[in-house]
Amino acid sequence: MTLVPHHIQDLLPYQAGKPIEELRRELGLKKIVKLASNENPLGVSPLAQKAIKAAVKEVHRYPPSDGYGLRKALADQYDVKMNNVILGHGSEGIISVIMRTFLLDDEEAVTSQGSFITFDLQAQSRGIKLVQAPLKNYCIDLDNIASRINEKTKLIYLANPNNPTGTIFRVHQFLDFIKNVPSRALVILDEAYFEFARHDPTFPDSMQYRLDNVITLRTFSKSYGLAGIRLGYGFAHEELISNLMKVKLSFEPSSLAIAAGIAAMKDDNFLNETLKLNRMGLEFFAGLFDELGLQHLPSHTNFMTFVLDSEDHVNRLYNKLLHEGVIVRPLKAFGLPNCIRVSTGLMEENEFFAEKLRKVI
Ligand SMILES: Cc1ncc(COP(=O)(O)O)c(C=O)c1O
Repeated sequence: MTLVPHHIQDLLPYQAGKPIEELRRELGLKKIVKLASNENPLGVSPLAQKAIKAAVKEVHRYPPSDGYGLRKALADQYDVKMNNVILGHGSEGIISVIMRTFLLDDEEAVTSQGSFITFDLQAQSRGIKLVQAPLKNYCIDLDNIASRINEKTKLIYLANPNNPTGTIFRVHQFLDFIKNVPSRALVILDEAYFEFARHDPTFPDSMQYRLDNVITLRTFSKSYGLAGIRLGYGFAHEELISNLMKVKLSFEPSSLAIAAGIAAMKDDNFLNETLKLNRMGLEFFAGLFDELGLQHLPSHTNFMTFVLDSEDHVNRLYNKLLHEGVIVRPLKAFGLPNCIRVSTGLMEENEFFAEKLRKVI
């Protein structure tokens, strides 16, 4: 179709984890456990739920276009100015604003293979050249990424911890890397899983460095249980933020999202329970995969990825698990065709997965 440019026609749409209702329709199963989308198994923060209910009464009004209450709360918590904070329709919403703000047509983006494919899709939909360095031992290889930076490089996207491997790069690796990045290139540090990783002293919390050409992205989708409301945030130099604010949709994010975010930030109890349950889940998965002799990657997130010997093996296992009522995530679309990712669930869900995996493997 001539109306649509080739770089759009060639895009493969993002494939989300299989929805529970779809599997129920297809196979008529009673019990289904979905461990495929790195969602919060505890549900929604109770304080956020209360705030959403209260905010519903005001949805005939437009939200504040500067996201005031939540930007202020984030600025206070992280000891920055409100002018250093941006909100978005999920952190992927902010990635989309970044794409529209900084890039000229002949500029390039550099990232890693085997990383968060939303970035790749957005770069490709912008029609720019996307350069991808291979993973090294299932980890983002910062040296290789640095070697691909050239005078056209405008964006460098790094997910730390990385999805779908769950791995991190360490403080010393990041500091070595950033020295080699020219100041005309913007580094996007996507820390969607920050809360799960921050207790590791080797994890580089990008907020500690305050570099002028780095934007930190975080989200309420994971540890705060707000994936469906779509709320992400970013921190950067105020000049970058002021330009992003010009380009973002005027009323992004919604008033319900803003209210939910303000309340969720106060819900320490929910966050602590989430982190505790996740630690138990990761230990449980590591034990399970060891027992079954399956290679698994060290996770700093709310999921764990395990490695099989072939794509064919992955497909067979994935389908058998579906028939047993367990939805996991095969990683071909992420560039890892011999891997499967499984999100931590409630302990009874993790045990259900274990029972079915032992049965079908
Ligand atoms: C690395 C990474 N970044 C961003 C996101 C998207 O977050 P949000 O829901 O805030 O758009 C995800 C979600 O899976 C992710 O894994």
